[in-house]
Amino acid sequence: MANPSPDSPFPTLSIARHPLVHHKVTLLRDRRTPTKVFKELVDEIALLLAYEATSDLPLEPCAVETPLEPAMGYRVSGKKLTLVPILRAGLGMVDGVLRLVPGARVGHIGLYRDHDTLEPVDYYFRVPGDAAERDFLVLDPMVATGGSASSAVASLKRAGAVRVRVLCIVAAPTGIERLARDHPDVRVFCAALDRELNAQGYILPGLGDAGDRLFGTR
Ligand code: PRP
Ligand code: URA
Repeated sequence: MANPSPDSPFPTLSIARHPLVHHKVTLLRDRRTPTKVFKELVDEIALLLAYEATSDLPLEPCAVETPLEPAMGYRVSGKKLTLVPILRAGLGMVDGVLRLVPGARVGHIGLYRDHDTLEPVDYYFRVPGDAAERDFLVLDPMVATGGSASSAVASLKRAGAVRVRVLCIVAAPTGIERLARDHPDVRVFCAALDRELNAQGYILPGLGDAGDRLFGTR
C-alpha cells in the first residue's frame, strides 16, 4: 500500500501496490468477465485490501500451549471488528474479509444512489449496539461521488462509532475528496484510483455498475 502523506492531494487515501491486486482489478474492468469470475475477483481483492487495512490492529500478549511447551503469543485486543457492507454491491466483499477475520461481526447499511441527483437514499441501518467500542470497516466496491460512503460513515458516527475505515476497489478523485472533507478522520483503502466521473456519475475507466455485474442484474 502507498500510505497517505500530509502533502498528498488525497491525505486519507492508501492505494494498493501489490501486483496481484493490479492484475485482478484489470480482470474486473474487462467487460467480458462473467458474473461468476467477477464475484470471485471482488472477494479476493476485498481480502487483500482488508489485510492492509488491519495492519495496525492492536494486540495483547496471551499464553498458549504448543504440543511441546507453554509459550507466549498475541491476540487481537478489544471488541470484534465489524464489517459494514453498503447494500448491495458491498455484500460482494464480505466473505473475502471474513476469511481473514472470521470472528468479525457484520452490520448492514442500505443505500442506493438516486439516478437523477446522484445523492444516496437511505433504506436500512443495522449494526451492533456497542458501536463506540468497535473498529468498523465499511465495504463498497465503488466510491464515485463519495455520497454513499460519506452517508454510511455519518450514519455509523450517529450510532456512536469513532473508529471507521472505508475499503473500496475503485475510487474516483471526486469521491475521495468529498470523503476527506466530510470525514477527515476516516482512512480509505482502495485498489485503484481512477481518472474521473462521467456525466451520469460513473467512474472512468471504472468497471461499470458493480452491483449489476456482481448480481447479474444488468
Ligand atoms: C453504487 C456503489 C456505491 C455507490 C457509489 O451503488 O456500490 O454504493 O453506487 O456511488 P457514489 O460514490 O456516487 O455514492 P448503487 O447506488 O448503484 O446501488 P447498488 O449497490 O444497489 O447497485
Ligand atoms: N457505482 C457503480 O457501481 N459504478 C460506478 O462507476 C459508479 C457508481
